[in-house]
Amino acid sequence: MKIAHLSDLHLCMKNRPMVVQQTKQLIQYALEQGIDHLVITGDISHNNEPQDFIALRKLLQEFGLLDPNKLSLTIGNHDIFGGVYFATDIAAFPEKCKHTNYRQEVREFKHYFSEAFENAYFPLPYLEMTYAKSIDNVVIIGINSIDRYSSLRNPFASAGVISSAQFDGLKMIFSKNNDKNCKKIVLIHHHFNHGPPADTRLQSRFWKMIENYANRLSHKKRLLRLFKKQHVDLILHGHKHESVEYRKMGLHFLNAGGTIDTNHSDELRVNFITIENDEIQTEIRTLPAASFRGYQNSAVNQKRTMQARESM
Ligand SMILES: [Fe+2]
Repeated sequence: MKIAHLSDLHLCMKNRPMVVQQTKQLIQYALEQGIDHLVITGDISHNNEPQDFIALRKLLQEFGLLDPNKLSLTIGNHDIFGGVYFATDIAAFPEKCKHTNYRQEVREFKHYFSEAFENAYFPLPYLEMTYAKSIDNVVIIGINSIDRYSSLRNPFASAGVISSAQFDGLKMIFSKNNDKNCKKIVLIHHHFNHGPPADTRLQSRFWKMIENYANRLSHKKRLLRLFKKQHVDLILHGHKHESVEYRKMGLHFLNAGGTIDTNHSDELRVNFITIENDEIQTEIRTLPAASFRGYQNSAVNQKRTMQARESM
């Protein structure tokens, strides 16, 4: 089985329409490489706009991927709360988050891509995005890591949490899927690694600390212990905008957060996972972003705004 992993597309038809074309390029490329399954680990939309979800849905439909055996998704913080694009959006963002109906947004996300969940097992009905599905000898386990907004605890709406109900649901999933011949792959939005500060200056270290706090995943250690105990083979995620592979506590992680938002706006990335003869092989592939007629100005704007806006 060959899987392509994308994340953090941050589709935004209004401010950077070329991302839809870049996503199309990535999916087309992945299909040419002979993938059986596509995984997207959240932040599909930058600002939680219906048109962005619909744009991805249309692409998936066009490529015949709206199929539970070919597509798996998990939700990101931007898919629920949206985000800040321009500096002028910052002031209004907390109020927007305060009035966001978390549960309704999760339901709507699921509704846009309902075909992907058709064959999934949901251990607890109120956990809308905690599920498992079996495809060949692979069990895909989806987790919703997005915390609710709180002006004190989660003021940027970018932190994560694994609730005790989710732990209950995950235990039910693992007890139902205990075949040792099956590979267990977890999909989650939040990351598990903290890179070293870019430099040792006090100011840089301070902002790094703020960033780590804003994007933290509560109960991470407990979750890692559960993954270890249940012999999870691979954890696919995004959130942090970089594409890297790493190991922690003997667990194997692959981040596709740099799919679109790399440091080079002319590059795209796609992660490949190949499961063959009880072996898992991974690869992060970089490809040049095609230039699309009519989007040249958007490319320049995208580069400028990427530098200016937060990467949360
Ligand atoms: Fe993101």
